[in-house]
Amino acid sequence: MKTFRLQLRFLVPLVLILTGSAYLALPLMDKLTLRWFARDLDMRGNLVANALSDALTDEESRGRKLQTIFDRTVQDERMVAIAWCVSGKVVRRTARFPADLGCERAEQVAAARDASVRIEGGPVHVSFHPIIGDAGLVGDLVLMHDLSFIERRSQDTRKYLIILIASLGAAIALVTVIVAQLSWRGWVSGAQALLRGEGLVRPMLPPSPELAPLAADLRERLRDLEDEVRRGQRAEDVWNADRLQSLLRTQLRGDQVIVVSNREPYTHERAENGELVVRRPASGLVTAVEPVMRACSGTWIAHGSGSGDRDAVDSNDRVALPPGESEYLLRRLWLTEEQEQGYYYGFANEGLWPLCHVAHVRPVFREQDWEHYRNVNQLFADAVVAEARSEDPIVLVQDYHFALLPAMVRRQLPRATILTFWHIPWPNPESFGICPWRSEILAGMLGSTILGFHTRFHCKNFIETVDRYMEARIEHEHSIISFGGEETLVESYPISIEWPLPEEARTWPSPGQCRTELCERLGIPHDHSIGVGVDRFDYTKGILERLNAVERMLEKHPEWRERFTFVQVAAPSRGALEEYRAFQERIQRTTERINARFGLPEAPVIRLLVQHHDHDAVMRLYRAADVCMVTSLHDGMNLVCKEFVAARDDERGVLVLSRFAGAAREMPEALVVNPYHVEETADALYSALTMPPAEQRERMATLRSSVQEFNVYRWAGRMLTDAARLRLRQRVSERVQRHRGD
Ligand code: F6P
Repeated sequence: MKTFRLQLRFLVPLVLILTGSAYLALPLMDKLTLRWFARDLDMRGNLVANALSDALTDEESRGRKLQTIFDRTVQDERMVAIAWCVSGKVVRRTARFPADLGCERAEQVAAARDASVRIEGGPVHVSFHPIIGDAGLVGDLVLMHDLSFIERRSQDTRKYLIILIASLGAAIALVTVIVAQLSWRGWVSGAQALLRGEGLVRPMLPPSPELAPLAADLRERLRDLEDEVRRGQRAEDVWNADRLQSLLRTQLRGDQVIVVSNREPYTHERAENGELVVRRPASGLVTAVEPVMRACSGTWIAHGSGSGDRDAVDSNDRVALPPGESEYLLRRLWLTEEQEQGYYYGFANEGLWPLCHVAHVRPVFREQDWEHYRNVNQLFADAVVAEARSEDPIVLVQDYHFALLPAMVRRQLPRATILTFWHIPWPNPESFGICPWRSEILAGMLGSTILGFHTRFHCKNFIETVDRYMEARIEHEHSIISFGGEETLVESYPISIEWPLPEEARTWPSPGQCRTELCERLGIPHDHSIGVGVDRFDYTKGILERLNAVERMLEKHPEWRERFTFVQVAAPSRGALEEYRAFQERIQRTTERINARFGLPEAPVIRLLVQHHDHDAVMRLYRAADVCMVTSLHDGMNLVCKEFVAARDDERGVLVLSRFAGAAREMPEALVVNPYHVEETADALYSALTMPPAEQRERMATLRSSVQEFNVYRWAGRMLTDAARLRLRQRVSERVQRHRGD
């Protein structure tokens, strides 16, 4: 019924159009046929006139036989009448030639368009033929042909035309109805398939081209719905310190958590006046792990590297932290200078760091460094065992300083759950292959229960590296590697920051105040726009490329020359290494060059602050800035960009972010750049400086909501949830084995 109604929508206009066309076409057709016939009759008239011309020019025939010839000629069924005019007068005519139609009138009719006149008996066609003899014009022959047959023919033609149009209409309607019926069915089943998700969300055949626009709309709508659902889930899926604590209490039954990292969360420094000063190092690792540790109340094992560290610990080398709050314990380990040189500076930072970052600095591998690296890993592994209060603690191993430690701990505590998180990128198998101890490193890491990277891409690189160099079984589907009888889950856990609590945010000075303070402290003119960069002074951070981009922006847009200042905080780092010293000197020289070119002596364009800034100072800097530039040449994640976003509760400020930082995948609302492309980065800086406030707000609001949701508690929570699942599985399988043994 529905389809019939749809078809009517087509059929009614079709009938109307066809009727209309017939109505218009018929008179046209009549005229046309009449004209054709008139032409035929003219030709026929000429023929007859020619045939009679001899008789008409011959005097004798004219006298005697003309009437007879005329009477015989009109016996033809088409010929109605003939008249012979001489000097404008009818001198001979056949019976049906109207007496009142003179020669002059006949000539006029013949010259008219339709050349027809109605006489008694019906319409006739009149033709007028002058007959020329030897002595000139002899007279004019008037011929009248019957036109009634034309009318008859015209009626026939009309009839046929109507039949033709009607049958054409019927045929079109029939075909249309059939095609419409079939298409409708196809369309309905296509739409039903789309609604089932075929060709839409499942990797099946794409929808037919006619349904493609519908599929695109549906896909968009689905995405909206997904977003709505996600937003709904988000409200329920909030990760915070409380939730992490409850996870530890319930799913992990309050089991002990031990963190191992090289860098300690706080250092105690002996100041020149002899006072003991507590400092938090510039470290993404510390930024991320410390809040988790506070929630877990566990033990953190790290290298005691501060000049006053020994003075702050108890007899077991432990100190309660954070200062004054005592939420967890830090166990410090002491390294000799040679150990620190070989393990930390040498193997970790001259070997593994450039190896994994692929930032065009050659990795250096020394046998002696490797020795120290192994020994220090063993030292820390022993400390883990010593700190363990049970045979199955949860050990969170942090970073590339401890690639061997997981297997070392596994040997001594086979039931421990070891979560290793690699804070830096993992290169492809070819790049990693240049490490002389690649197999030992991979075997060490595969001692982990769970091995975490920031991105899926790094996980994939690691799995491919194991595939290339180790005798291991890989379950790609589940991302599990079986090696030496143990299984390691390789998973991505994008690290993040602790989202500031509202009570903390309330204590921050306003962005305006932060800006005024910064301008006064550094002597920046108050009307300047301010860009900031906050990094460890490291060649992977793209500081040189960033300065070059600032210079290029000023070259291209001279109007910004005395209106823009870039503040670069560079926390001193690994300065004992030649590569770092050379890099830091190069940055100094570049800064001087750019300042000499564009700055005023009293207001340099680039302010390079090579000093440690505490958390509070960095927050103020972020709040004072119009633009924050993160241009790492390669970075596991990078937390500076997330901290900048967290600091901007006014939803202002623009983030320029390197696409080679893991964070770029999560923060597409930043201005994402290739830092090696100076022009592109300079243009992004210009766009950031000229971005309208409404757009800044829109981008910043989205960035903030995603960093707030994907915070560090989610990072830790996801890892620990996976750990709880694997621990449960292990317990069940141990119980089953025990039963079998009974
Ligand atoms: O980026 C890797 C990393 O270990 C971070 O986790 C940390 O922020 C940084 O390097 C610290 O380096 P270092 O401890 O050598 O100063």
